[in-house]
Amino acid sequence: MSQLDEQVIFATGNVHKYREVSGLLSEYNITIEQEDIKRLEIQSDSLEEIAMASIKNVGGHHGSPVLVEDSGLFIDSLGGFPGPYSSYVYRTIGSIGILQVMKEADSRDASFKSVLAYLNPGNEPLLFPGVVSGRISTSLSGSRGFGFDPIFVPNEGDGRTFGEMTMQEKNRLSHRSKAVRRFALWYLSNR
Ligand code: IMP
Repeated sequence: MSQLDEQVIFATGNVHKYREVSGLLSEYNITIEQEDIKRLEIQSDSLEEIAMASIKNVGGHHGSPVLVEDSGLFIDSLGGFPGPYSSYVYRTIGSIGILQVMKEADSRDASFKSVLAYLNPGNEPLLFPGVVSGRISTSLSGSRGFGFDPIFVPNEGDGRTFGEMTMQEKNRLSHRSKAVRRFALWYLSNR
């Protein structure tokens, strides 16, 4: 099978991430397949380090080109918390917990970051980062998307949270879309 025909695997158990990434990549005629591959998740303050360890772990026992993505919400007034620990914080205190922690905060500035890692067997892994700046809303708004979407208002938007946007609208602004578009442009000119 030539590399051109090879199916790219997106290793994730998060169906929302899969929908967002596959929707974006289809704009570039790149198709991916979801596989919930269990993998090592190291603890680190850096999404890049986590994504790199993850892709090496997954790629090491997969014959196909593989993508993994690591992301998080970074709140300025909390020193970047929850950052790489976003998934744990979401599962424990959730969006409501974040709103409570933010009650006395001077600034509501925050950003979402995404790091997409790609490994084509036999080659070095590559990282594609994406960031979106915004602020934490004062209440939950919207029920679309996942995770902290109902409390994040992107600066380049119209004042709505990601949770109030369709996936297409979120995909025009999100951290993940920036990472994925970088990857897509690289992939189309280098595969
Ligand atoms: P992980 O990348 O699987 O470690 O998870 C990152 C966590 O950050 C998710 O569980 C969400 O809580 C949060 N997160 C990352 N990206 C987004 C997003 O696009 N919307 C809302 N929450 C997100």
